[in-house]
Amino acid sequence: MNRLPHGGPGRITGDGAVVARAPAKVNVHLAVAPLGADGYHELRTVFLAVSLFDTVTVRPAGDLSIELTGAFAGGSAGPDRVPTDRRNIVWQAAELLAQRAGVSAEAAITIDKSIPAAAGLAGGSADAAAALVALDTLWGTHATRGDLAELAARLGSDVPFSLLGGVALGSGRGERLSPVLARRRWDWVLGIAGEGLSTPAVYGELDRLRAEGLLPAGEELASPDPVVAALRSGPVEALAGTLSNDLQAPALVLRPQLRRALDAATGAGAAAALVSGSGPTVAALAADEDDAVALAAELAGSGHFRTVRAVHGPVPGARLVG
Ligand code: C5P
Repeated sequence: MNRLPHGGPGRITGDGAVVARAPAKVNVHLAVAPLGADGYHELRTVFLAVSLFDTVTVRPAGDLSIELTGAFAGGSAGPDRVPTDRRNIVWQAAELLAQRAGVSAEAAITIDKSIPAAAGLAGGSADAAAALVALDTLWGTHATRGDLAELAARLGSDVPFSLLGGVALGSGRGERLSPVLARRRWDWVLGIAGEGLSTPAVYGELDRLRAEGLLPAGEELASPDPVVAALRSGPVEALAGTLSNDLQAPALVLRPQLRRALDAATGAGAAAALVSGSGPTVAALAADEDDAVALAAELAGSGHFRTVRAVHGPVPGARLVG
């Protein structure tokens, strides 16, 4: 049996809490096909998990509740508002796992958000993946990694990758993954905007631009092979030359000031800069860790971002901590 490599009562602390964390992601390649009949777009993508983590703590309780803490607990309006009821993907993850395991969906869940919502960084997906791992231990459901991946795919297109981490090729809606071995570390600076973008709105804008002939239809999906080869072995110039994201153009239409933010990143010495996923986060590629720290300092003062974070990847997917 493909049992989880972690879990078990040893991970439950004195007050019964179980803690898990999961990383943000950057799509270093994101090719998007035309809108399918199921309302989704077929993708060819390369995911990279980066060192910005949300932490989910679950405790025994008589019902299900969600509390948000941390720098990105959420605004009061707009796509970055994070609900604490059944609209939260973590609530849905809890109900799905409980149903699968035949247990009651009872837990007091705290989500410590370091990953901004509606930022193109899969923050909600990270929360769902971490919740699955933590609740599996709290409830003793003994799900296999395969079971959790199957539940993850039902929760959202990016949740399976948040569970897996590292580097992976994604197809289908993004939920079909093949892991890629990348031996070297990549340093990035994430430029985080003050206001989020809605993922469906960005996909919708892509469809509109294509329907009006302002962008190629996307019938031919660009191959991820060059970016995978560059990710495996470098050098940084090779990766810089292969980064691409079909959602960048629609994100730029919806948020024109992103153009200046991207230019600020390259102007400050980034090897390349692109919009992460559906945006509006700017992912700026640095030559190494020192370069990332310097780049982050410069971009922090540029006025284009609410905040910046120096991160690196690949890092592991959702796992227990403590
Ligand atoms: O799967 P998830 O719930 O994260 O997707 C959110 C939205 O993003 C979908 O409702 C859809 O509008 C869009 N999407 C898409 N094609 C994908 C993934 C997401 O159109 N492959």
